[in-house]
Amino acid sequence: MTGKKANRAVFSCQNCGYQTPKWMGRCPDCGKWNTLVEETYSPGLALFSEKSPSGPTTRPVSIDAVEITQVRRINTGIREFDRVLGGGIVPGSLILIGGEPGIGKSTLMLQALSSLAARDCKVLYISGEESVQQIKLRSERLDTKAESLWVVSETNLDSITAMAKEMAPDVMVVDSVQTLFAPDLTSAPGSVSQVRQATMHLMFLAKRTGVPVFLVGHVTKEGAIAGPKLLEHMVDTVLYFEGSQNNVFRILRAVKNRFGSTNEIGVFEMKDVGLCEVSNPSSVFLPERPNLVPGSVVTASIEGSRPILLEIQALVTRSGFGTPRRTVLGVDYNRVSLLVAVMEKKLGMQLTSDDIFVNVAGGVRIDEPAVDLGIVSVIASSFFDKPIRQRTVVLGEIGLTGEIRTINRVEPRVGEAAKMGFERCILPSDNLKHLKRRNGMDLIGVQAVSEVVDLLF
Ligand code: TYD
Ligand code: MG
Repeated sequence: MTGKKANRAVFSCQNCGYQTPKWMGRCPDCGKWNTLVEETYSPGLALFSEKSPSGPTTRPVSIDAVEITQVRRINTGIREFDRVLGGGIVPGSLILIGGEPGIGKSTLMLQALSSLAARDCKVLYISGEESVQQIKLRSERLDTKAESLWVVSETNLDSITAMAKEMAPDVMVVDSVQTLFAPDLTSAPGSVSQVRQATMHLMFLAKRTGVPVFLVGHVTKEGAIAGPKLLEHMVDTVLYFEGSQNNVFRILRAVKNRFGSTNEIGVFEMKDVGLCEVSNPSSVFLPERPNLVPGSVVTASIEGSRPILLEIQALVTRSGFGTPRRTVLGVDYNRVSLLVAVMEKKLGMQLTSDDIFVNVAGGVRIDEPAVDLGIVSVIASSFFDKPIRQRTVVLGEIGLTGEIRTINRVEPRVGEAAKMGFERCILPSDNLKHLKRRNGMDLIGVQAVSEVVDLLF
């Protein structure tokens, strides 16, 4: 940005952040229409100063000479939350919590803070959306009583910075980034430059003072307001709170974490007294499962450090149009297309004139190939209109030649299935050879997809 004069107008795309000196109807970067908004460019932070110092202000050191001080993570006491963070909050980190409006971000933050306050931490909740009375009402509903939980309604960045420095809390939350504004920028709160500036300010604040900062960000489908996607590279940790409004389960997922694994998920249930932890997710995703009907199968997926049993459903119906439809929710669309092709070639099933719908129950998303065999089994079950045998769980990755490939961490998956009352498991035969414990399960090893169909029904 150097070379630009202060107070010159720039047009920023509110969707992707693209900047141009001239207005355009369509953003050349992301292709959205009518998203360019005039903002006044201001050098703002010293980081963007056009004057560079005459010499280096910091000196490199040999990596061997760097001393590690053990960071003490702060535990919130909400185990699902701590696990997703990688074992607690790292001091001085900036954590972004994204999610659609109304999903429960403010509720989660308030619960986490009051749990911290109950553990003698001084915590500060800054809301730009609600008044302190509204926050109080919410906290009464959540039954949180804590003296050291401080709340304030504020949107001015300078004031927030001053407040944080004066009060020096142990943890602070800013809800939400889209309401903040830096007085030295003329654009409206929620615009790209305001949201970026606010994040940068809070990042410096966190790093300089060592206070961990949670930043809440709304994600909107239309991208009408600048969203968390724009900020992901700037912060230390990005968590997304997902789920649908009409489903009580909420999943907290780490998308980026400089201090831990990104595979972890935390599962919560939204009740009228707030979010409750679900420490055994397998038990919540399965009970609604219909018994002995075609088009439903159970598989075990590893989410972070835990195995979770999930139900995959499929519906194969005759297509009314020339081009069959493939609708997929919760698993990768391309993966399903690939598996359908394998089924046509290796199992001789004619699926070209059928619509196929695949869904993972409970609004969960699975990214690993270990569920391939589950997808194939459930499509076959719906196609032949036969229910899969009771108490059977199916695991395995499928290659393009129809071979069943080994999967990782099969023991915890089988263990979880046994714990949940399953008695039969179809799994890759190479995995079976190395499996030490059988958990009283009937384990059936398979090498090719053609062997599987007979074992299912
Ligand atoms: P909220 O945390 O305000 O969402 P966000 O900050 O992500 O916009 O959550 C709002 C929803 O949660 C609202 O629809 C009501 C529901 N809710 C409950 O079901 N139980 C509760 O105890 C609370 C506080 C909220
Ligand atoms: Mg909120």
